[in-house]
Amino acid sequence: MDGAEKQMKKRILCPSMLAADFANLERDLLAATGAGAPYIHVDVMDGNFVPNISFGPPVIKSVRRVIPDTVLDVHLMILEPIRYIKDYKECGADILTIHLEAASDPEKTLRAIREAGMKAGISINPDTPVERLKPFLPLVDQALIMSVFPGFGGQSLIPETLDKVRELKRIREEMGLSFDIEIDGGVKLSNLSDVLDAGTEVIVAGSAVFGENTAEKVKEFLEFPGMSQ
Ligand code: DX5
Ligand code: ZN
Repeated sequence: MDGAEKQMKKRILCPSMLAADFANLERDLLAATGAGAPYIHVDVMDGNFVPNISFGPPVIKSVRRVIPDTVLDVHLMILEPIRYIKDYKECGADILTIHLEAASDPEKTLRAIREAGMKAGISINPDTPVERLKPFLPLVDQALIMSVFPGFGGQSLIPETLDKVRELKRIREEMGLSFDIEIDGGVKLSNLSDVLDAGTEVIVAGSAVFGENTAEKVKEFLEFPGMSQ
């Protein structure tokens, strides 16, 4: 990839369904995708790796039926995710992201995700150094820098995590790789220019998108300067 191509990497808005109204999930998902969101972010929490519990494959299977053409970006905040790869493939995940801190053998897990026919992603918490991702980067399609401690929506973005995005971008260049860099947690229109400047390509936003006027909020994100490049 030459410099010009790198500049061209698309920015992708990825609304996090954790902030949707679960009693009106279809309405909310269709509002987001109908307004142009190409991905939906799906947070799976096990009450062990993170202190919260969300939902699992049966819910994702129903979501898949409602939005068959949207990329389902599944963020597994669960211990030893290798145990469940087949289930997530079967319920319709396109991208499966594991946490480095939650897998005893991240390499084996990432390989198994790809072998199952999904894109593989790896994520780190705000207190895990970017360096630790290095051995696994050749095996991923996406690397997720958590900008909050995972477990809950509606937290504030930790500004230092944007330095980790910059560092990861440098490392990606040094290693000659092309995975997408994703950020998750506390992204709002008010910090979006910082988030984009740091070099993120997949932008997760939950509470800033779902709630009142979801479609308008998605449009505001998509029309934000720098989002369409
Ligand atoms: C946090 C989740 C996030 C969350 C983002 O553990 O991984 O995806 O839904 O929500 P906001 O954008 O509200 O911080
Ligand atoms: Zn997430």
